[in-house]
Amino acid sequence: MAKFLLVTDLDNTLVGDRSALEKLNQKLMQVRQEQGLLLVYSTGRSLSSFNHLCKQEPMLIPDALVTAVGTEIYYGGCTTPDPDWSAKLDQGWSRDGVFSITAHFNDLVLQREENQGPYKASFLLEPTIAADLLPRLDVALQIRGLDVNIIYSGGQNLDILPLRGDKGEAMQYLRGHFGISAAQTVVCGDSNNDQALFSAGPERGIIVGNARPELLRWHQDHPQDDIYLANAPSAG
Ligand code: GLC
Ligand code: MG
Repeated sequence: MAKFLLVTDLDNTLVGDRSALEKLNQKLMQVRQEQGLLLVYSTGRSLSSFNHLCKQEPMLIPDALVTAVGTEIYYGGCTTPDPDWSAKLDQGWSRDGVFSITAHFNDLVLQREENQGPYKASFLLEPTIAADLLPRLDVALQIRGLDVNIIYSGGQNLDILPLRGDKGEAMQYLRGHFGISAAQTVVCGDSNNDQALFSAGPERGIIVGNARPELLRWHQDHPQDDIYLANAPSAG
């Protein structure tokens, strides 16, 4: 019976310091054996990009993998995403509708095809333009009747997702799936696309020492006792 669920972002959170990751992996394997641990990776990457990362870094095999910023969930090496999760995201989502609006915003540069998903429309956006553009985009999408989740992270990436399609929602869905309480759950991240992990509910959080100012600013504005601000970067 698992006692503990660890949900962690990958780039610049779990991954970034190879020797710290190797040490953490040792500890996690020990906890997995002795006390029961469920390990979930939650990334903005696609499945194929995650597989590529696994060839470069010493990654443990997770119990579940959340890709595309919470919009796809995979179990045990299966390459088909959880259909129940996909069905939930499908409600009220129109990818074509989203693109019919974004087409009017010339400053949005479409990300590579590999970064697009059935429930994720991703663009690049200059940080100097973002503050002015994002509220206008939000209004335009709302007027079109599209209730979506707009996430700007890393000072360059804009993801438009179904309303219930972020990392926080996926984490809570998996808590239900595995039958783990919020108090037994720890979430970890470094950037804005991890914010939903920290704001979803009473789960405990770790913001890594190398977190981006965007996430630290959010944390300052929404202080929570259950979030630990680490000194060490990444897996450390
Ligand atoms: C990853 C994805 C990209 C996304 C970004 C932020 O880099 O590849 O599509 O925009 O994470 O969520
Ligand atoms: Mg990250």
